Amino acid sequence: MTFDPNCDSDSDVTLSWLDKGRIPRHVGCVMDGNGRWAQRRGLPRTDGHSAGESALMDTVYGCLEVGVSWLTVYAFSTENWRRPADEVRYLMNFNESLLMRRKDELDENGVRINFAGRRDWRVPKKVLRQMDESADQTRDNEKLVLTIAFNYGGRAEIIDAVRSLLDSGAKSSDITEKAISKHLYNPDAPELDLVIRTSGEYRISNFLLWEIAYSELVFTDVLWPDFRREDLYKAIYEYQGRNRRFGKIG
Ligand code: FPP
Repeated sequence: MTFDPNCDSDSDVTLSWLDKGRIPRHVGCVMDGNGRWAQRRGLPRTDGHSAGESALMDTVYGCLEVGVSWLTVYAFSTENWRRPADEVRYLMNFNESLLMRRKDELDENGVRINFAGRRDWRVPKKVLRQMDESADQTRDNEKLVLTIAFNYGGRAEIIDAVRSLLDSGAKSSDITEKAISKHLYNPDAPELDLVIRTSGEYRISNFLLWEIAYSELVFTDVLWPDFRREDLYKAIYEYQGRNRRFGKIG
């Protein structure tokens, strides 16, 4: 499928609210509520994850439409290993199959596929292989960087950054904010402007702790599988109404 900016008349309404000069550069999504979405329909929880794919793709198209250049989504946290083994297995395979299904489409639309997280022994080799292939295939794309946070934890990322700094021979006086930022998983990514969490939960859950220090947070009751680009536009509209002070007097 190729992106058609005129394809969705509902989204035109919310799109027209937006100040095109103040689109957030980097948006993060905590894609929550898949399990509840499925349970309400009498389906297995994993059907909720699979329904989350359309939400993800529509959000990607929404970002392309309004000009968000970085989108980071929380697909599997370092804490998600505590879920039942079947669900963990499903999420591992789903990551791989989603990339196989969608990488050409994302590539054709100028999306660079990128990852954040620990590549530890628990992530199956075939999943890592597909992640590497998707990243390689799309590495020169420039319209949008889609970062999939997978086996990701914000505290783990800070620990990994400090360890990598120490391994490079840093002394305690070298451990500065700038130095830590340079050793994060994706040092070139700008800090997040806006984080959206779905499903009516008001938590950060270890998502990009370092990079969201000054982000605006928007919470919506919509469950992730029902989230569509209009919901993204509403969140951006709310963001545009905020006064970002970065610690200064407003
Ligand atoms: C949280 O909902 C969601 C997840 C742990 C998985 C998110 C994965 C997707 C949306 C599919 C897209 C996948 C990739 C690889 C990009 P939950 O299960 O905690 O829902 P609940 O709070 O209702 O139980």
